[in-house]
Amino acid sequence: MNQVAIVTGGTRGIGRAISKALIADGMKVAAVYHGNDEAAKSFREETGHETFKFDITDLDACMSGVAEIEKKLGPVTVLVNNAGITRDGVLHKMTADSWRSVIEANLYSCFNMCRAVINGMRERGYGRIINNSSINGQKGQFGQTNYCASKSGIIGFSRALAQESAAKGITVNVVCPGYIDTEMTAVMDPQILASVVKQIPVGRLGKPEEVAGIVSMLASEKASFITGATIAVNGGQHMA
Ligand code: CAA
Repeated sequence: MNQVAIVTGGTRGIGRAISKALIADGMKVAAVYHGNDEAAKSFREETGHETFKFDITDLDACMSGVAEIEKKLGPVTVLVNNAGITRDGVLHKMTADSWRSVIEANLYSCFNMCRAVINGMRERGYGRIINNSSINGQKGQFGQTNYCASKSGIIGFSRALAQESAAKGITVNVVCPGYIDTEMTAVMDPQILASVVKQIPVGRLGKPEEVAGIVSMLASEKASFITGATIAVNGGQHMA
């Protein structure tokens, strides 16, 4: 099968590792990004695969972005909703903008991208959707009401979509990364980060490649009987 995978936030961090893993699996990868042109250029130079720049918080942009990807690469068989942002702060100080921007970037994007690919996958009777949530969507986290709401929302969304899609050969699963060594954790207060690492039984931050490995498995044809699952990749920090 000609496999075409979309990875949102696919040029940096965990997303870049996922894109590279799917390329190694023989897929054509469309790495979607919005802001960082430098990272996109370096991704293209390193992998020889294409990047597509559009705003995943905007449904119309996702519809036309997916249409453009399909025109260039062929029908989409795999969607990885990986892109996400944080705007950490306690609720009693949180602005409506911090709330809205996180919900839009993390959760609306998941709806928008799934909505853009789902009819094609249903018509063709095949699809693999992997939505990245977070350990903090499972357990909650001080200072992250916005992020935790978005990441918990992704889990409920995925379970519903998994039920709707199972009879059409489409699986929908969730991966919950723990604290991974990326730009998102690098901007944390070093003392807070050090206290988090103490709570991880494996004794260190995770690596992007350790998340990419499970995404690659869920994206494969082999994973046809796994759907609606929520898989933790957190070094044992939270066992649900
Ligand atoms: N539990 C209980 N109390 C806590 C606490 C915790 N985890 N963290 C801080 N507090 C307390 C502080 O001790 C302090 O109490 P006092 O006023 O009595 O001293 C009070 O809460 C206020 O704390 P701060 O001074 O730290 O408040 P702040 O407004 O300056 O900072 C914050 C708040 C920015 C949210 C900061 O606590 C923080 O950065 N927390 C980490 C959040 C986090 O884990 N983010 C993950 C980012 S990575 C990611 O999200 C990827 C992923 O998927 C895992």
